[in-house]
Amino acid sequence: MTRSGIKFVGLAICLAIFTGALAGCGSTADSKDIKIGGVFELTGGVASYGQSAVNGAKLAFKQVNASGGVLGKKINFIIADNKSEPSESANAVTKLITQDKVAAIMGAVASSNTLAAVQIATDNKIPLLTPTSTNPKVTVDDNGTVKDYIFRSCFIDPFQGTVMANFATKTLKAKTAVIYVDNSSDYSKGLAQFFEENFVKSGGQVLSKEAFLQKDQDFKATLTKIKSVNPEVIYVPGYYEEVGKIVKQARELGITVPMLGGDGWDSPKLAEIAGKEVLNNSYFSNHYSTEDKDPKVTQFVEDYKAEYNQTPDALAALGYDGAMMLVDAIKRAGSAEPAKIKDALAQTKDLQLVTGLISLDANHNPIKSAVIIELKNGIQTFKEKINP
Ligand code: PHE
Repeated sequence: MTRSGIKFVGLAICLAIFTGALAGCGSTADSKDIKIGGVFELTGGVASYGQSAVNGAKLAFKQVNASGGVLGKKINFIIADNKSEPSESANAVTKLITQDKVAAIMGAVASSNTLAAVQIATDNKIPLLTPTSTNPKVTVDDNGTVKDYIFRSCFIDPFQGTVMANFATKTLKAKTAVIYVDNSSDYSKGLAQFFEENFVKSGGQVLSKEAFLQKDQDFKATLTKIKSVNPEVIYVPGYYEEVGKIVKQARELGITVPMLGGDGWDSPKLAEIAGKEVLNNSYFSNHYSTEDKDPKVTQFVEDYKAEYNQTPDALAALGYDGAMMLVDAIKRAGSAEPAKIKDALAQTKDLQLVTGLISLDANHNPIKSAVIIELKNGIQTFKEKINP
């Protein structure tokens, strides 16, 4: 054998030993920790969401581990970036399941990114819990069949759309609206539909529906058209990058009516993009308010500020709650086996968390309250709390 041949054989043996060792570490059954995967938007179009949600979840796991862990084991939270893209979300979940051998997965934030991961988790029988995706199809398919392995810790969009439609007709006394929807997002399309149904049901009229796409920059042509039909409110169920630009450009065109939105408006980036004063006379529905005096909320806000030196947005609170919900399920299951975690998750009941009391219904959705936030010089101020 030549010298390089010997070297090659040596290298091959080393590799074999190394991968063998890795495979050993990967098996969940006898490991010293419980591996939980996280698939989140850490970069890309909605990175602010993923970063907050991860921070919330990390804080929860840190607290749990500091007080002894779960079933005598520490939680090992392994995070993968989906770059705010559905295809990357599928890749990230595949990696977490096949390489990291996680027992359960948290994520993603945006409904389209979660929907892209749901089938893979289901096929591999790994429970997936999204803390924040509000589109109904995440947990239930088009035929109404519940997805066994998929759960969430947030309310869903039929409720969120109703909350804002009622606020528009009852509190703002609006009779006419225009809806401006992000056609690249399952979340936005669903929320637009639920808002419209309920706005019409409570006597309102939708004058027109317009659409944009993620990454669009110039909204002025459509906004000019919207201005010409003169609605009393404009509903924009989008994400902060586009919403920030839309509100800014609307005000530049002299549109002064209230701009309304959903949880996708929740990001410190919104005021950076739009400008603080530009956002006055805007309202959106959300999962919680830091102004809530509930002791669970004040304690969380205090802990989160101590850890990150930032005020936690709803994503952070939901990330925290989602992590606590998983920990609760693993405890009750008495096991970190994926199938047992799944069964325990389905039975989640009366769990008092930061964003409310969580009991899952038959469709794996919690029934929770929502809040209306008013933006005043860029500051989120609590306006109303709406119970389901
Ligand atoms: N509900 C949004 C979705 O399903 C995600 C989101 C939640 C964004 C909370 C901001 C705050 O796509």
